[in-house]
Amino acid sequence: MEFIKIAGSDIKASRIGLGTWAMGGWLWGGSDKKKCVKTLYKAFDEGINLIDTAPVYGFGVSEEIVGEAISETSFRDDLVIATKAGLEWPDNKVYRNSTKQRILKEVDDSLRRLKTDYIDLYQIHWPDPLVPIEETAEAMAYLIKEGKIRAVGVSNYSPRQMEIFSSVCKLQTDQPPYNLFERGIDEDVIPYCNENKITMLLYGSLCRGLLSGKLSADSEFKGDDIRNFDPKFQMPAFKKYIEVVDKLDQFAKEHFNKNVLHLSVRWMLDKCKNDISLWGARRPDQLDDVSKVMGWNIDDGSMAEIENIVNEVISEPIGPEFMAPGPRPNK
Ligand SMILES: NC(=O)c1ccc[n+]([C@@H]2O[C@H](COP(=O)([O-])OP(=O)(O)OC[C@H]3O[C@@H](n4cnc5c(N)ncnc54)[C@H](OP(=O)(O)O)[C@@H]3O)[C@@H](O)[C@H]2O)c1
Repeated sequence: MEFIKIAGSDIKASRIGLGTWAMGGWLWGGSDKKKCVKTLYKAFDEGINLIDTAPVYGFGVSEEIVGEAISETSFRDDLVIATKAGLEWPDNKVYRNSTKQRILKEVDDSLRRLKTDYIDLYQIHWPDPLVPIEETAEAMAYLIKEGKIRAVGVSNYSPRQMEIFSSVCKLQTDQPPYNLFERGIDEDVIPYCNENKITMLLYGSLCRGLLSGKLSADSEFKGDDIRNFDPKFQMPAFKKYIEVVDKLDQFAKEHFNKNVLHLSVRWMLDKCKNDISLWGARRPDQLDDVSKVMGWNIDDGSMAEIENIVNEVISEPIGPEFMAPGPRPNK
């Protein structure tokens, strides 16, 4: 496993982080708690020490599963537990809420569910248009002073929003979407984070399973699974994305003796050399290939070829914007 230090801290984090959204079950057609706990142990065995969760993932369930797993380990201090604040879910509808009052309540709820007395990395999940960014940043600075959190991050923020945040509280990480198919941050967020020494936790590494190479055009998803309304997974777009995945798989085999999953995660790690790729998993076998992403690199020529393979088929890329929760409704 490769490691980096979270910017402005001595926190040593694995460059592959385990994403635990699907463990919550919500928007993923349910999940099996026992398998999820085993998945966390498998991640630790593979050298992953950074776990990313959030209160909204299953409305507490994902954090509880992480809490159960970490409370039974003897190495809590070596782990980097990253969770979030700033979303609420009255009546199971999710809205943004980053008031100071909300954040100070949320942190104690998360600590209880995670069965720990500190959070290594606390992130604002989405910018809240109804609350001044300065108020949100002030709450995070307060939590650092209180010793409840060790480092501060945001997620889904624009460079301007990060700049405002940083004027009040030291910003150490950002969590934007990024993968071979979702490159909306290339021109603005990545250069901003590099220039300002902000570590990125890049989410959606496998594009919700699409880049695993295990899906086909007739794959079906159960219940409330997000892929039932993710525009990339709808025809005719889905067929095109599957076509590119097949081509990338072929390329990975011919050039590196790897598959598309290995290539996709390695691509992120090589594009963003000081940052972290979040790999979502909820079954131990889904992490069998973590080691196959390590110990090699994608050269510049291959980077260009990979880009051509994607651009030849996907002329109008579909972004991940459909996932954004709305602001609180006016009462
Ligand atoms: N900050 C934000 O707003 C935000 C938004 C999205 C995600 N995130 C974070 O980023 C993490 C990763 O993103 P993500 O969970 O959306 O998606 P992802 O990493 O792109 O894909 C995860 C899904 O891919 C499939 N998968 C994983 N390993 C596989 C393997 N070896 N073979 C076949 N399929 C495999 C699994 O689906 P199945 O289990 O259905 O097979 C898994 O649930 C999240 O868990 C969360 O921590 C943050």
